[in-house]
Formats: sequence, structure tokens, C-alpha cells
Amino acid sequence: MDLLKELESLVPELERGLDQASSLTELEELRVAFLGRKGRLAQIMGRLPELSPEDRPRLGQAANGVKMALTERFEGRKTALEAASEAAALSRFDPTLPGRAPWRGSLHPDTLVMEEICSVFRGLGYDIVTGPEVEMDHYNFEALNMPAEHPARDMQDTLYVTESILMRTHTSPLQVRTMLARKPPVAIIAPGKVYRRDSDITHTPMFHQIEGLMVDKGVSMADLRGTLTSFLRTVFGGDTRVRFRPSFFPFTEPSAEVDISCCICGGKGHVGNEPCRVCKTTGWVEILGCGMVDPAVFTAVGYDPEEYTGFAFGLGVERVAMLKYGIGDLRMFFENDVRFLSQFR
Ligand code: PHE
Repeated sequence: MDLLKELESLVPELERGLDQASSLTELEELRVAFLGRKGRLAQIMGRLPELSPEDRPRLGQAANGVKMALTERFEGRKTALEAASEAAALSRFDPTLPGRAPWRGSLHPDTLVMEEICSVFRGLGYDIVTGPEVEMDHYNFEALNMPAEHPARDMQDTLYVTESILMRTHTSPLQVRTMLARKPPVAIIAPGKVYRRDSDITHTPMFHQIEGLMVDKGVSMADLRGTLTSFLRTVFGGDTRVRFRPSFFPFTEPSAEVDISCCICGGKGHVGNEPCRVCKTTGWVEILGCGMVDPAVFTAVGYDPEEYTGFAFGLGVERVAMLKYGIGDLRMFFENDVRFLSQFR
């Protein structure tokens, strides 16, 4: 019976094929060729009707045996090939290589400075408050003694959203918001983003400020000077010199600007033989604006100016960070270059 011989020859034929197969892909091709729906075994079975009825059961039985044998050979070879390819992968793996460290983030210098300053004032008993960046004209200007058409509004190039809504140009609206919400005494510090229509090497449309406000009975300019001097020496070092220059802000009277001795050149005005570019050889750098809260602001928030006095100050966070870390270019703060950012660990 030819068909039976053909059937039995399948096993040694597959074995020869398996011996030569060197990959799992070739193995799969063999499986399809022998055991697939149109494979060799199926073809032989398809010819079953050619046989006489008495021969059919014998061939059927033989076919089952062959099918089992083929499957078994095939599985055996497959297990061996899989083990070999795993071993090859392992031999390519070098367990002595150092691991790849996961990427570690770092805090932005603005965040570091804001956290440091807030923590100094928290230690002095100040509360930290925040407020909206999209602000009412009333809180940003009007209640701060800058009525519409007041020429002092020109000091700040404002980004308007509507006629009465704007991007806050400073954190001073937090003075107003805090005093409207709380009764004196108040001592708050307010960090946040502010916006101005300004963009060049030393100005960006968005930057950060920290506002401070202290109101109580009998608060004086001496309290202002003492608080700011000790705060600046904490942040910039104990031997930092501090000076107050008369200035003007509509919402403080009297007003002052505060300079510290330049921490790049140590107040000498030059670094080695080079003129100091940060303080332009003056030995001083301006660091914040401040003053005694103007009575008109107290009136606007319903505090009695005869009973209470207070001081306020506002400082630029990027400016502090540039001086503290020796950063030469304001634009680096907003470029998000990891080579810059990752230095602040
Ligand atoms: N808001 C002022 C500015 O942005 C700074 C300031 C705050 C001055 C508080 C005095 C008191 O320039």
C-alpha cells in the first residue's frame, strides 16, 4: 500500500528537516509544511477515499501515530532551539556593565529662591498667601493709590485682558486682597508670577516676585529696615552690606529702594582686573522696593490709618537668583535647557 509507505516516510523526512533548521522561523515553516491545514499529512489524509473500505481504518490509525510522532519531534526541536537562543542572548548580556541611573529632576532656581525666602519669613511668623495672576484693575492699581489716568501706571507696561481685567504687573494686589480678607495685625509673604509687556535681554514678559506686608499698631520704618536687613543677610551672607535709597511708589510713603553690596565682586566694583559687569563697577546692586503703607491704601481696604501703620516690600525672584548663583543672563531662566537647570541640585 503506497499511501502507508508515504505516510511512514514523513517522520524521517521531518527529522532531517529539523536537523537542518537553525531558527524558530524555519521551524515554523516546517510545521506548516508537515502538519498545516494543507501540509503533507493533510494531503495524504485527503487521499483516503482512494483506498478500499477495509484498508481505510488501518491507514487512519497509522496516520494518528505519525501525527503524534511528528508533533513530538517538532516540539522537541523547538524546545532545544528556544533554549539555544536564550543562551545566546545571555552571552551578549554583560552583567559587569554599570547600571543606567534613572534621570533625576531638579528644582528650578526660581523655585529654590522662592522656597528659601518663604521659609525665612515663615520663621519670622509670616503667613504665605497666593492670588490670581489674571487680576482686576482695582486690586492691581486702583486700591493701591493708582487711579485710572494716574501717570504712575506708566511705570508698568501692562498686559490687559479687558478694560478692567489685566495680567497682574506685580504681587502688590496681594496686599489689598489680604487686608480686605483679614483684620490687623497681618504679616504675609506672597510669591508668584507677574507679567509686563516687556521683552529684551534684561526683561521677560513673565517673571516672579515676592511681596511682603506687615501691618500692626506702631510698625515703623525701623522695623522695615531691621526686617529687610536681617532677611537679606540670611539669603546673601552675614557680611552683606545693605543700603536704603529714597524712592517713589504710589502705594508707600515714604518709599525706598534697597541695594546690597554686589555679591559677584564682593562690593569692590571689579573682579581681578576686570570691571564687574553685574554692578557696573559701583559695588552695589538694587534688590528690592519697599516703603511704609500709604494711608490711602489703608483707607481703600477699610483699615483706620490713624490706628495702624505697616510696611511693604516687593522683590524680583530672578534678580535674587542671578546674584545668588552668579547667573549672567535672564533668558536662561525660561529656556528650559537641562544643562542649565540640572546645575541646581
Ligand atoms: N510692586 C512694586 C514693583 O513691582 C514693588 C514694591 C512692593 C514697592 C511693595 C513697595 C512696596 O516695583
